[in-house]
Amino acid sequence: MCGIIGYIGKKEAIPILINGLKRLEYRGYDSCGVCIHDNNLLKIIKAKGKIVDLEKRIKKENNLNSTIGIAHTRWATHGIPNEINAHPHFSEDNNLAIVHNGIIENYDTIKLLLQKEGYVFKTQTDSEVIAFLVNKFYKKSNNLKDAVLKALTQITGTYGLLVLSKDKREIIVARKGSPIIIGIGKNEFFVASDTSAILEYTKNVIYLDDFEIAKITDTNYEITSLKNQKINKEIHKIKTSLDQIEKSGYKHFMLKEIFEQPEKIKDALSGRIDFKNNRIVLGGICLTKEFFKNINKIVIVACGTSWHCALIGKFVLEKYLRISVEVDYASEFRYRNPIIDENSLVIAISQSGETADTLAAIKEAKEKKAKIFGIVNVVGSTIARTSDCGIYTRAGPEIGVASTKAFTNQLVSLWLLTLFIGQKLNKITEKETKEIINNLNNLPEKIKIVLNESKKIKEIASKFKNSKNFLYLGRGINYPIALEGALKLKEISYIHAEGYPAAEMKHGPIALIDKNMPSVFIINKNKNYDKIISNMQEIKARGGIIISIATKGDEQILKLSDHTIFVPKMDTQFTTFVNVIAMQLLAYYIADHKNCEIDKPRNLAKSVTVE
Ligand code: M6R
Repeated sequence: MCGIIGYIGKKEAIPILINGLKRLEYRGYDSCGVCIHDNNLLKIIKAKGKIVDLEKRIKKENNLNSTIGIAHTRWATHGIPNEINAHPHFSEDNNLAIVHNGIIENYDTIKLLLQKEGYVFKTQTDSEVIAFLVNKFYKKSNNLKDAVLKALTQITGTYGLLVLSKDKREIIVARKGSPIIIGIGKNEFFVASDTSAILEYTKNVIYLDDFEIAKITDTNYEITSLKNQKINKEIHKIKTSLDQIEKSGYKHFMLKEIFEQPEKIKDALSGRIDFKNNRIVLGGICLTKEFFKNINKIVIVACGTSWHCALIGKFVLEKYLRISVEVDYASEFRYRNPIIDENSLVIAISQSGETADTLAAIKEAKEKKAKIFGIVNVVGSTIARTSDCGIYTRAGPEIGVASTKAFTNQLVSLWLLTLFIGQKLNKITEKETKEIINNLNNLPEKIKIVLNESKKIKEIASKFKNSKNFLYLGRGINYPIALEGALKLKEISYIHAEGYPAAEMKHGPIALIDKNMPSVFIINKNKNYDKIISNMQEIKARGGIIISIATKGDEQILKLSDHTIFVPKMDTQFTTFVNVIAMQLLAYYIADHKNCEIDKPRNLAKSVTVE
């Protein structure tokens, strides 16, 4: 989704802005632009497409040197992706410019009113009205912050907003529902929608909260509420290092992130298991034993890959806690008047911690007094801060749009949470705890075994780069993995893929089977094994192609399948981890054989901050 960076200080702004935009590329965008001070005027340069195109345009300009500026990557919502609709947007007289993330819901009403007053709009965007509205007030007061405050009272919707005027060395920043951080450097300040944009310049940041506005000058920053009351904010230190957001020799971030999983799982477990006493130690849990005792139901809300993790969470939590677990798409949850109350636990899972649908679901749950537990990757993100308590997944920055390591670490976090609640309620035996801990600890080594199969998976993938459709089939706890495998493939290779419970295939999807249709079966040795074999036979009998993800040493599968990827033998409940790695690699290599833009697939955004 859209990305924002701003700079004010003593250095050349353009290189910092361009560099920041490049760091934000992973979020997904279709156009970009910068605005700087230029000889008492504002200069805006924009481009449809990539930041390299913007750079080329900037190079053509002579003598651009400014030490203040704002910049933006746009992911189109209102108006097609083109240069005109790209941000920054000027006010009607070019005296000020804005960059905006989010959606102005009442933009057409404001636009109409302004048009009646004679204003002429140039873009199809919702954002342009902000520039016009702020400028209307600015012309009267010559106070930029006041003008922004006034304009915001008329705006409905969400915003991460930066405003720059031609005649003041200050950037006005405001936030509602779209993340904004202020980076504090030495005699310089940065503003961004994401820490990765400013990480190489400063690690000291302030997270702006909703309904807060900041005025940043060369020497100072001042944060107030929308009622202009001063707010003192804590300065946080970002722990992420620069090499964590670089490719480190891998062809794509996605591949790097797939291969990072053994280490990231170790990070997720580190310090959270008291081996001596066989107990789970989780920091951020503020919920009482009394609350856990009285839980009437658990609801997990999430989107996309995080939702697939939630489906697995249902298996795990219900099995050990014997508490009913519902899993909802976050986007659906709030509209169905969910039956929850103060005794319900709502678990929100999100990599980015900024997904608008998940945030809206949390809001709904909070209104109904449920307790919110966040399982979040990005430290300091809005969901992390909005939840009553939670745990960080510790997967590190995930740059590839297709989620991989964040998913496996979400799963680990769900296991830890299950153990934690299970121990609090004495629902998990000593023996079960030991077995689970043992399985969790063995994950990195087991995953490495699958990663070592990557050459073979790459070879199998080469045979499917021209396929148009795929079926992914799994049962029980591996059904969500089938969904995840299908999602990964469609996201990065643009091949249509559907995930189904294997037995459900005969109730419809079987009609699709012919000699061109590959079906990926997840078939580990467990109680469903024979049933899945029958499903495979049904496909074989209709001439379909079978790719199996099976347990090492399973000779029967070799005979039934056209291609087999072996994963190590494990307790069924933990096969999800190794199976998903095979799925990730298969999707990755198919997309790579097709020369797809794997880290930044078309139309997708890393963090979906609009509902
Ligand atoms: O940041 P979140 O986990 O809340 O994001 C949810 C989905 O948008 C996300 O998982 C999406 O489906 C990924 N691109 C999947 O690879």
